Amino acid sequence: MTTNKHTYAFKNALDAQRERLRTLETLFDPGTIRCLEARGVGPGWRCAEVGAGGGSIAAWLCHRVAPQGSVLATDLDTTVLRELAHPNLEVRVHDLLTDDLPRGEFDLIHLRLVLAWLGDPRSVLPRLIGALRPGGWIVAEEMDFASAGTDPRMEPGASALFTRAIQEHHALLAAQNRFDPFYGRRVAGDLADAGLAEVGCQGRTTMWRGGEAGGRIWRLTLAQLREPMIAAGRMTASEIDEAMALCDDPRLSTLAPVVMAAWGRRAVA
Ligand SMILES: C[S@@+](CC[C@H](N)C(=O)[O-])C[C@H]1O[C@@H](n2cnc3c(N)ncnc32)[C@H](O)[C@@H]1O
Repeated sequence: MTTNKHTYAFKNALDAQRERLRTLETLFDPGTIRCLEARGVGPGWRCAEVGAGGGSIAAWLCHRVAPQGSVLATDLDTTVLRELAHPNLEVRVHDLLTDDLPRGEFDLIHLRLVLAWLGDPRSVLPRLIGALRPGGWIVAEEMDFASAGTDPRMEPGASALFTRAIQEHHALLAAQNRFDPFYGRRVAGDLADAGLAEVGCQGRTTMWRGGEAGGRIWRLTLAQLREPMIAAGRMTASEIDEAMALCDDPRLSTLAPVVMAAWGRRAVA
C-alpha cells in the first residue's frame, strides 16, 4: 500500500533524476562502503536497502553477501532499481511511512538520504527496528547542510549568489517537502532514543567544485527546483540560471554538506 503523504521532491523516473541518483552514488558510495565494511557485512547476511534510489549500494551488497546472503531493495519509485539484475536481489515498491517490512529478518538495514524527507523520521524507526534480527544493524546516513557554503576565495558576487541559492534550497524544501536540511546532527540521537545499542556516528565532507561531480549535483538539484523556486518568488529565473551556470564553472568552490553516518544494533535478548 502507498499513500500520497510522501514528501520526496524529486521524481526518479525523470532522466535528470536518474543522472542525479548516479551522481549521488559517485560522490557518496566510497564512504558508504567503508562504513558498511566496518559494521562487518559479509557472506550470508540478509540485507535491506531502503529508499535505494539508483541501487548501486544494493548491487554492492548483493556481491558482498553472495552466495547465501540476499538483499531486499525498496523505494517509493523503483524505476531505476528495476534495471538491476542479481540472483540474490528482490526489488519492492515500499513506502517507508506506511508499509511494513518483514519482521525480525535483517542483519543489516541501510538507508542513505531518506529519513530527512519523512517529516518525522522517528515515527518509522520502530518499524525498521522490528525488521531487524536480534544483533542486526541499522546504518542511516543523512546530510547536514551546516557545512555547506562557499570558499572565501570565490569572487564576492558569485559567492553571494550561490550562498543565496543554497539558503533558498533549504527554505523551499523545508516549506514544501518537510525536508530537514540539518537532520544529520539528529540521526544518531534518534537511533539511540529508539532503543538501539552500540550507537555511533561519523560525518564526512569534502569540497564540491564547478565542473566536477559536486558541481553537477548542485546543478541537477537546482534544475529540478527551478520552477518551484521561481513560482514561490524565492529566486528570479535569471538568478537561478546564473547559479546553475556556476555549477559548471571551475570558479565555483563549495564545502559540501556533511554526510553523517549513524549506526546502532538491535539488542540480543
Ligand atoms: C536522495 S534519494 C537517495 C537514494 C539512495 N538512497 C542514495 O543515497 O543513492 C532518496 C530516495 O528515497 C526515496 N524515498 C523518499 N521517500 C520515501 C518513502 N517514504 N519510502 C520509501 N522511499 C522513499 C526516494 O524515492 C529516493 O529514491
